[in-house]
Amino acid sequence: MVRADRGNPPAILRLVSNGVRLAPSILAADFARLGEQVAEAEVAGADLIHVDVMDGRFVPNITLGPAVLAAVRRSTSLPLDVHLMIVEPERHVEAFVAAGAGTVTVHAEVAPQLHRVLAMVRESGTNAGLAVNPLTPLDVFAGALPYLDTALVMSVDPGFGGQDFIPATLDRIRALRRLRDRINPGCLIEVDGGIDADTARMVVKAGANVLVAGSAVFGGLRTVAENLAALRTAAVG
Ligand code: DX5
Ligand code: ZN
Repeated sequence: MVRADRGNPPAILRLVSNGVRLAPSILAADFARLGEQVAEAEVAGADLIHVDVMDGRFVPNITLGPAVLAAVRRSTSLPLDVHLMIVEPERHVEAFVAAGAGTVTVHAEVAPQLHRVLAMVRESGTNAGLAVNPLTPLDVFAGALPYLDTALVMSVDPGFGGQDFIPATLDRIRALRRLRDRINPGCLIEVDGGIDADTARMVVKAGANVLVAGSAVFGGLRTVAENLAALRTAAVG
């Protein structure tokens, strides 16, 4: 299997962001000028680029595969945070690693042999992430945390951008944060879905340190730079 850069952000960005990393999701970008939009996000101070892979089976929507990831890889030097919303993720891990993933995140709901798939990701030299949907119990993290670089709490049911943040996510982040502080303090806590200037502050206070945002970065009338600046101000207070 091809080894990839584990993709930690440069120290300077981590300092600027006060420990909170912003991960624009390209799902809301203009796909006709994807490379430009990713470059805009990088210049504007994004810490990671979040790439949503959907298969029309685990989620209703279909997005992109390794070829598009490789194109994104050529457009930025930022780590690529690949969120696999697909069944049988073990069949595709190698291809996404080869295409340049810095982190590969799989969903607990579709991976019964979680230990094997997380090991497969880490053995490839890539960071491993585990995601849970809004109503999936957090218990899985008690066992999985030692094998994780990122624990992802979905704040909407996955499948589409532009959905409303589910408020109960805040309690889940707090609970996961306590577990993570005890078992694996180096693991990032990521939140995905409905993150904007209003919800960003709340999820950071609850304990999240990686914020995924699609519509709030690439949507609306303001520029990507203005959107990211507003999000960062809200996130770091
Ligand atoms: C949803 C995806 C998200 C999505 C977030 O299934 O996993 O990453 O892009 O979009 P917003 O920020 O618009 O809710
Ligand atoms: Zn996502």
